[in-house]
Amino acid sequence: MIHSFEVRGTGIFMPPRVLTNQEIESMVDTSDQWIVERTGISERRIASAETSTSDLIAPAVRNACEDAGLALEEVDTLLVATSTPDTMFPSTACWVQERLGIRGPAALDVAAGCTGWLYALELAGALISSGRARNVVVAAGEVMSKVVDWTDRRTCVLFGDGAAAAVVSATDREDAGVLASNWGADGTLAQILYQPAGGTQRPASAETIAEKAHVVHMDGGAVFRQAVRAMSTSAKQALESASLTPTDVDLMIPHQANIRIIEATRSRVGVPLERTFNTVSRYGNVSAATIPIALHEAKTAGKLNPGDRVLLTSFGTGLTWASTVLRW
Ligand code: UT7
Repeated sequence: MIHSFEVRGTGIFMPPRVLTNQEIESMVDTSDQWIVERTGISERRIASAETSTSDLIAPAVRNACEDAGLALEEVDTLLVATSTPDTMFPSTACWVQERLGIRGPAALDVAAGCTGWLYALELAGALISSGRARNVVVAAGEVMSKVVDWTDRRTCVLFGDGAAAAVVSATDREDAGVLASNWGADGTLAQILYQPAGGTQRPASAETIAEKAHVVHMDGGAVFRQAVRAMSTSAKQALESASLTPTDVDLMIPHQANIRIIEATRSRVGVPLERTFNTVSRYGNVSAATIPIALHEAKTAGKLNPGDRVLLTSFGTGLTWASTVLRW
């Protein structure tokens, strides 16, 4: 028997410290005007030096479970999407368990960059559909501020920190769940966006630190082009598989990297502008956490009603991409 599933609850946790473009003006040679015009970002949240990714995710998971009316003990699988793990091992998901005092349920990380949360949602759906799980927490969190070079104006203005989680549960509702989805990757493009050192290719050494090889390295133009191509192709395919037209979409939530990427993708897919939800101006690019943060904020703002068709689409390091059409 195939079990359907629904997003039963959502929660976020954002560090309180706001870093504005004006403050960044005093750190690197940039301007509020350049950042707003080229990216749409006005401010972002920054975690304190003592905060790790699991410190942000744990309260987001608590909030999502509370929203879902689910006790932490009822969670049977914990998936965590992140590019900024607490440690090389164990997984950040296990650190989240440690923070929450949870023992027992399977816990694992999904490493797919900014696409990580949609990849994890795809896995949650498969686990529930097959009867392997009933209540999956699909979480994402990033402390991007610890992996950017704060002297590099091409990257430091783009990213922010934060976390979000959703409780995805089996349901008897026949009209809920995923109407269509797809995911993919092109590993030949791995080097257009990556953190070169700290793993087994280049373990940390005095040299890698001197070379600044532990921070985001990115070919911005190439990422921009690939992002628009990957997200628009994948989103169109998902709509087609769900037998929907762009105007059937009640809300589109694209990955929040850059307002120009969002706008180019939206117009290629054909979803009306007023049906796109954005958080990029306030939070910047929170990598894997951007989509669940936006989903939670859209819900809180009353923009999601039962039965709505929601189009989620993302791209990220890898290169990875994925799109999901949800019936809310
Ligand atoms: O989740 C995925 C993460 N990554 C992305 O999504 C990034 C995708 N790429 C982008 O969003 C854009 O390519 C950027 C925002 C990174 C750059 O925007 P752009 O319009 O592609 O600018 P550009 O790289 O072509 O640079 C134009 C100029 C350059 O100066 P010159 O060489 O023309 O003199 C840059 O040095 O703008 C300069 N520049 C800046 N100026 C002021 C680059 N960054 C800044 C800055 N402030 N922060």
